[in-house]
Amino acid sequence: MDTAFTPSQRDLRALLRSDFEACRSGTLDIFDGMSEAEFREPIHPQFSPLGWHLGHIAYTEAAWLVAKCGERPLPRPELEAIFHVDAVPKAERSRRIPDFATVKAYAASVRAEMLDCLECVPIDRQERLWRFVLQHEAQHTETVQLLLALRSRADARAAEPAKADPTIDWIPVAGGAVTIGLESADALDNERPCHSVRLAPFEIARDPVRQGQYAAFMADGGYTRRALWSDDGWAWLQQAGVAQPLYWRAGSPDLPVCGVSAWEADAFCRWAGARLPTEFEWEAALTKVKAEDGPRDMLGHVWEWTASLFAPYPGFEPWPYPGYSQSYFDGRHRVLRGGSWATRPWARRPSFRNWYTPDTRQIFAGFRCARDAGPG
Ligand code: AVJ
Ligand code: FE
Repeated sequence: MDTAFTPSQRDLRALLRSDFEACRSGTLDIFDGMSEAEFREPIHPQFSPLGWHLGHIAYTEAAWLVAKCGERPLPRPELEAIFHVDAVPKAERSRRIPDFATVKAYAASVRAEMLDCLECVPIDRQERLWRFVLQHEAQHTETVQLLLALRSRADARAAEPAKADPTIDWIPVAGGAVTIGLESADALDNERPCHSVRLAPFEIARDPVRQGQYAAFMADGGYTRRALWSDDGWAWLQQAGVAQPLYWRAGSPDLPVCGVSAWEADAFCRWAGARLPTEFEWEAALTKVKAEDGPRDMLGHVWEWTASLFAPYPGFEPWPYPGYSQSYFDGRHRVLRGGSWATRPWARRPSFRNWYTPDTRQIFAGFRCARDAGPG
């Protein structure tokens, strides 16, 4: 029997098709009206130009879904030498990417072939890979959004002493066993396998640190008092020479802080007599505490720095290529949880683990405080 026409496979194909179409239409909206100069402008040395991300999204789809899943020749194979992640150093990408129209046409033709493949591949056996590629596009569009924000950010002045209020509303979370991770078809390699972790009781802030609270830290010498910073954090601060979050929005004390390094998050916590939650505490706070009296704004406001280094769960298996996560289990990357306003639905869930080095402040990241439970 041709499995392509069993009802469950038909439903799955239709579901994936509509997710891919929704994701792509959002992607194209972001690029809509972009000039040729913007498309290739090197905005920040740590990130590729805007246009590279669109080509890399298309190339990834071509390599995995057309060539591998669909067993067809790789479309436009000459573009692999630009859009494969290891092909060209970041600093050279600006000069190497084709013009916007060419990249757009490449993405459209890959998509047409990919949709043909979707109709005939054994989708129930390949679902995980298709979902991986969908999330890949979603994640790259967030990087595109932060590049746009970096380029256009207004140099807002930070201090708002009148509204500064450092009060933290604490929520107690019981200790004990908690199940961490996810094993559905969406789950990336680093979210697997599900496993149980024992936590000591702790407290977590109801809200991510808001600008009003952070203003109190700044007004109290937050960026000048050595004792508030870790050794690595202080060394970073000396060379970074910053004195406020990158995406500060003046006049908005209730907005979550956005655009801080993990070092700044650490320093604020020390100042507030708190610490960052571990990634497991963060996940437990979201999944164990009843929503009505639980933490707020955990998914879709800002990414939240945690105290945890990015490391494999017990029994980790790299997938779909060795380096997707494994290359970053190097003791230099920290886990962020949650998701920002620019995180698309396919990459936004309680178990999702993002990772960056602690000095990174260009991403849409803030944080939330935690502390050990008091005695009794
Ligand atoms: C998990 C967001 C840090 O963008 O570098 C995209 C995801 N991996 N292509 C990144 C990723 C390969 C990754 N982050
Ligand atoms: Fe990628």
